[in-house]
Amino acid sequence: MDNKDIKILAIESSCDETSAAIVVNGRDVLSNIISSQIDIHTKFGGVVPEIASRKHIEAISVVVDEALKEANIDLKEIDAVGVTYGPGLVGALLVGLQYAKGLAYAIKKPLIGVNHIEGHISANFIQYKKLNPPFVCLVVSGGHTYIVYMKDHGDFEVLGSTRDDAAGEAYDKIARAIGLGYPGGPKIDKIAKEGNPDAIKFPRANFHDSGSLDFSFSGLKSAVLNYLNQKEMKHEEINRADVAASFQKAVVSFLVDNSMKACKLKKVDKIAVAGGVAANTCLRKTLIDEGNKIGVKVLFPDFILCTDNAAMIGSAAYFEYKKGKTSTMDLNAVPNLKLGER
Ligand code: KG4
Ligand code: ZN
Repeated sequence: MDNKDIKILAIESSCDETSAAIVVNGRDVLSNIISSQIDIHTKFGGVVPEIASRKHIEAISVVVDEALKEANIDLKEIDAVGVTYGPGLVGALLVGLQYAKGLAYAIKKPLIGVNHIEGHISANFIQYKKLNPPFVCLVVSGGHTYIVYMKDHGDFEVLGSTRDDAAGEAYDKIARAIGLGYPGGPKIDKIAKEGNPDAIKFPRANFHDSGSLDFSFSGLKSAVLNYLNQKEMKHEEINRADVAASFQKAVVSFLVDNSMKACKLKKVDKIAVAGGVAANTCLRKTLIDEGNKIGVKVLFPDFILCTDNAAMIGSAAYFEYKKGKTSTMDLNAVPNLKLGER
């Protein structure tokens, strides 16, 4: 490691994962410790904010210590502390933020507040060491669905976003409705492999006439719920694999069609995918197939970098640091922080 290397200690606690990482120069991950609360929230069918905050408090110092230990680095060697300050659950965000402030103050190093969604996008800079903007990015997580044109680090043009539910949220709701439990995305992904994607024709919102690249998933969600209700009322058996596969086909085709349109619009030859739903195997395959047809390369971070983790926050923090953008100690949690906002 070079003396000029910038080592960032990053913290992420916006939802149900407490994570700390050490990232060098925004690209190299020395450690990325993730303590997941999924098992606890599964009992309630979704994330319970109050429990999430309490569990973050219990885990945070252990996770940070572990990240330093695994990276074999002393706190004195850290150049800056990066932390997610939004969007997310306010109580959960505050735990990581307050801890990060305390650390930055103690080691007299800058604090860098990071937008969680920008963090998801940055996971691609860890995966692809030579990747630099501009490129199009599809951000698909539990709370957000965006198609953005990343002009430069920290400079985003939103080309489309969801008008109601996020893609991951739709996955989670349908999974619950067919009795698969939380978190639904990975479970639908798995069971859909045994189903027929053409078994049921679910409708898809369409804004094509207006040239919009927006999404909408609530109509699809209602269509699936209606289908399930009707089947139940008629005492007919429900083929969960077919429902999952048909629902997934509707979601994925929407995401992929808009992604390809965005690439053509911006005349780019690469699209990066980010967020928890980027782990979806059907989305990955369909994007690659469609991308091949128009000469667009599709970039995905490894599965572990797709869902919430602190390494992606450390990467985004580095590019802020390089621009001299640091935060003050009065930085507050912003639960509804938008992409590109500071
Ligand atoms: O990015 P993330 O970890 O947290 C947020 O910032 O929201 O995304 C979590 C979301 C959940 O809705 C989860 O069901 C979904 O990502 N997800 C998936 C898959 N793995 C996680 N959705 C579809 N297929 C997957 N394999
Ligand atoms: Zn996330």
